[in-house]
Amino acid sequence: MEWLEVRLLGGFQVLRDGDLVPQEAWQHRRGAELVKVLALAREHRLHREQVIEALWPELPYDAALANLHKAAHFARRAIGESDAMVVHGGRVALAPGALVKTDVERFEAEDDPALYSGELLPEDWYAEWASEARERLRLAYLRSSRARGRWEEVVAEEPADEEAHRSLMRRYADAGNRSVALRQFERLKAALAEVGLQPGAETLALHEKVSRGPAAVAPVPVRSPMVGRDSELAIARAAWRQASEGRGGVLMVSGEPGVGKTRLCEALLAEASSSSWSTMRGAAPEEEGPLPYAPIVEALDRLLDARPDLAFSLTSAAQGELARVTAASPAAADRSRAQGGPAKDLLERGAGVRASRRGARSGPPV
Ligand SMILES: Nc1ncnc2c1ncn2[C@@H]1O[C@H](COP(=O)(O)OP(=O)(O)O)[C@@H](O)[C@H]1O
Ligand SMILES: [Mg+2]
Repeated sequence: MEWLEVRLLGGFQVLRDGDLVPQEAWQHRRGAELVKVLALAREHRLHREQVIEALWPELPYDAALANLHKAAHFARRAIGESDAMVVHGGRVALAPGALVKTDVERFEAEDDPALYSGELLPEDWYAEWASEARERLRLAYLRSSRARGRWEEVVAEEPADEEAHRSLMRRYADAGNRSVALRQFERLKAALAEVGLQPGAETLALHEKVSRGPAAVAPVPVRSPMVGRDSELAIARAAWRQASEGRGGVLMVSGEPGVGKTRLCEALLAEASSSSWSTMRGAAPEEEGPLPYAPIVEALDRLLDARPDLAFSLTSAAQGELARVTAASPAAADRSRAQGGPAKDLLERGAGVRASRRGARSGPPV
């Protein structure tokens, strides 16, 4: 025999010069246990007393020693090699004349989570001699999975690991998969609930961000770069800054036709939306007639189409008003057809969702 390979992760297997020792050869449990204990030991050798302490701590010494010799015999027979287990001079060695390799050593040396094919010796779950190494290897596997961003593996191993769940939520949300991201959050919540815990602040903040979705952006046609208008833009930006401090207002832009009013407003809208503000846009073309609040209704309609959740953050009185004006508009009729019910219903159902108010109030500003 030139080399002996012992697999301990996910189950026990021995290969002698590459040939699998059949499972039936291990029918004497003691032979297998001795091989396992030595495969886990440094340099695959131990003092006789260490083996006895691990495997038969409760037996009188003579009986334990007799067990050791029997176990060594069974191990040799299973592997089919007389020097597969050597008990000599107070020491026990696994195949000292051959190259012995184990999957545990390879995993620890390469620190690659892909080499961890399962927990250590699951069939020996109740054996005390395996439990310390099992936990050490499990933690090493978790550490290297985290370091490599293999969050699915981390979650499979530690179902209540918040960092792992958050990373998955972010990954799904970034890929535009918000519903999957939210399901991941529910999974975490359930796992935490099992141990009597709730998601922490960072996770809740991420959940809110994902449920809110990206900022809605009013359509701004792409065109040539803006020329000049520095002083007007400075005034507009000052008003915008005030709004971001909670002091919204009206900025009136007036001038001759063709002087560049629309262009100025578009420049401001584009800047705001690139700073993740939700922007709205409505116009009152003369030919559409004197519809009350038409530009505002148009702006709200577009925003509600993109971000229906925003309405939920309003008081129910405001939601009622909103439903009244938007239901009167053609876009709202489209929306209610698409949703199979009046737009008002959507808003009223939302009025019950108190929890999301917090979310929308802290969301990107409009
Ligand atoms: N500062 C500017 N830089 C570049 N193009 C401009 C600027 N202001 C206006 N324009 C262009 O001039 C044309 C008329 O401007 P517009 O904003 O539509 O005028 P108004 O709304 O005042 O009638 C548009 O094609 C617009 O893109
Ligand atoms: Mg114009």
